[in-house]
Amino acid sequence: MIVVQGKKAFYMARGRLDALSAHYRGVTIDLGAGDGRFAYRAALAKPERLFIAIDPAREHVAEVSARAAKNPRFGGAPNVLYVAANIEHAPKELSRVADEILVTLPGGSLLRGILLGDTALLGKIAGLGRKNAKIKMAINARFVEEPAPKDAPRLPDITPLYTRDIIAPAFATTGVRVSKARWMDPAEVANLGTTWAKRLSRRSPHRTFYIEAKVVNAAT
Ligand SMILES: C[S@@+](CC[C@H](N)C(=O)[O-])C[C@H]1O[C@@H](n2cnc3c(N)ncnc32)[C@H](O)[C@@H]1O
Repeated sequence: MIVVQGKKAFYMARGRLDALSAHYRGVTIDLGAGDGRFAYRAALAKPERLFIAIDPAREHVAEVSARAAKNPRFGGAPNVLYVAANIEHAPKELSRVADEILVTLPGGSLLRGILLGDTALLGKIAGLGRKNAKIKMAINARFVEEPAPKDAPRLPDITPLYTRDIIAPAFATTGVRVSKARWMDPAEVANLGTTWAKRLSRRSPHRTFYIEAKVVNAAT
């Protein structure tokens, strides 16, 4: 996988990732990590865990990934990696690596795939998790891209019923069981701690929806 450190990028093989993660008690993936600041702060707050922030927009993590790569005495965080990728082409090195997967306020094709219950995309998310990994998703329709990609189906409104009937069964085919599906209150959204969560909690006409799920079958 391609790991970003400021303006530099390098390839990390699975063996090196395994050697690194062996030093930690668990691995959290922040999928659609945006500017990567949340993963950096979380890494400083929880030095016992390894954080892997994934986002296709490599330029957005340039600043924070450079800071994380510094000596810890000067603000570095050795327990966070920034990976340039989109979930559709998730690096094989990340297969079944995480015990926690956060998808906070996804946008673009990541949001579209979740909302449509796209089993290919949900399978890619599931494939990041070990058995019993928790998946926590905070979803807001504010991030649906306008205009929609050409010929793309109209996106549904997410609700508990829609999650039960469409998203949960799609996730189930990928070995994931949805356990919670509910609206979040603004304070909870602010507590998510990401850059967009803070912006949203100040002003958004759209409510944020929470889905929690677990990888129950990691055999695929
Ligand atoms: C609204 S931002 C949220 C960023 C961050 N999680 C936060 O809460 O501040 C949505 C993010 O989803 C990412 N994204 C969109 N499509 C994606 C995909 N297919 N795979 C991974 N990330 C994607 C975007 O690059 C963007 O950084």
